[in-house]
Amino acid sequence: MPAQLLDGKRIAEALRLETAAEVSAWSAKSGVVPHLTVVLVGEEAASAVYVRNKRIACEKAGIRGSVLTLPATVPQTELLELIARLNTDPDVHGILVQLPLPKHVDPQAILDAVAPLKDVDCFHPENVGLLSQGRPRFLPCTPAGVQQILMRSSIPVAGKHVVVVGRSEIVGKPLALMLMQKQPVDGANATVTVCHSRTEGLAQVTRTADILVAAIGLPDFVKAEMVQPGAVVIDVGINRVEKGLVGDVDFAAVSHVAAAITPVPGGVGPMTIAMLLQNTLRAARGLHP
Ligand SMILES: NC(=O)c1ccc[n+]([C@@H]2O[C@H](COP(=O)([O-])OP(=O)(O)OC[C@H]3O[C@@H](n4cnc5c(N)ncnc54)[C@H](OP(=O)(O)O)[C@@H]3O)[C@@H](O)[C@H]2O)c1
Repeated sequence: MPAQLLDGKRIAEALRLETAAEVSAWSAKSGVVPHLTVVLVGEEAASAVYVRNKRIACEKAGIRGSVLTLPATVPQTELLELIARLNTDPDVHGILVQLPLPKHVDPQAILDAVAPLKDVDCFHPENVGLLSQGRPRFLPCTPAGVQQILMRSSIPVAGKHVVVVGRSEIVGKPLALMLMQKQPVDGANATVTVCHSRTEGLAQVTRTADILVAAIGLPDFVKAEMVQPGAVVIDVGINRVEKGLVGDVDFAAVSHVAAAITPVPGGVGPMTIAMLLQNTLRAARGLHP
């Protein structure tokens, strides 16, 4: 029997409507419109599309979304000055620096410069530290999107074996942290194994997963024989290939083995933006208590 499709697009839409309602109520009370500023450096086509989608999503949720575009040649010092200005601008609540940055810019230096209270991507070391201690200020958008898909699809996480393939600072590592956290919420208390490019016997490990998350960046990498029959498979990957966008999971084959699976596109991708809207509202509330 083919797997149940975990429709991230539908779940994200519901979340976005909830956020829009919260924004509307909070703005009416506070007189403040949440404001996200996205910093886009260069003219990479994919980044421009992501930024545009973020801006449109903001507008639909009643959030002000502004984009500051800088040339790819901008010196790092100038970028740092811009961030310093945004940090102190009382009218800006959330700051997002679109990645990747040009090669001459050190992304760590830029991301570390964003004021923690405006760090809606949850990349600042202070926010990562708070997340790690189980008292998050913000939840990182893509991992939070994965967690919401599981929770809103009533997939039990507590006590289950989750295998996360990928240990990046953006997806794999924070997701593992969030799912293993001792928290009185659904979507936590899992037994988590993290795999990466140095993992030996990867397929043996992935086959023990009740919930398998792929955040690798290699098209169709997870094959049917790497998945335990009846497992839940979450595909975070977004890979541009000749036929269009594909995930890290061989969807056609794995959907005959898994009990439930996210598609690409239409799975985790839309959730990331939905969580960004949540974080922007959270940032605005934090700055205007
Ligand atoms: N849906 C969304 O909104 C969203 C958001 C962010 C990213 N993504 C997508 O998610 C994917 C992962 O992104 P990322 O930023 O986490 O990528 P990344 O920083 O390149 O990390 C990839 C991870 O996969 C591991 N890996 C690579 N080859 C492997 C192999 N053969 N076997 C096992 N593990 C392997 C790497 O291991 P090492 O650490 O050992 O190198 C690394 O930990 C990409 O396709 C990206 O486009 C989607």
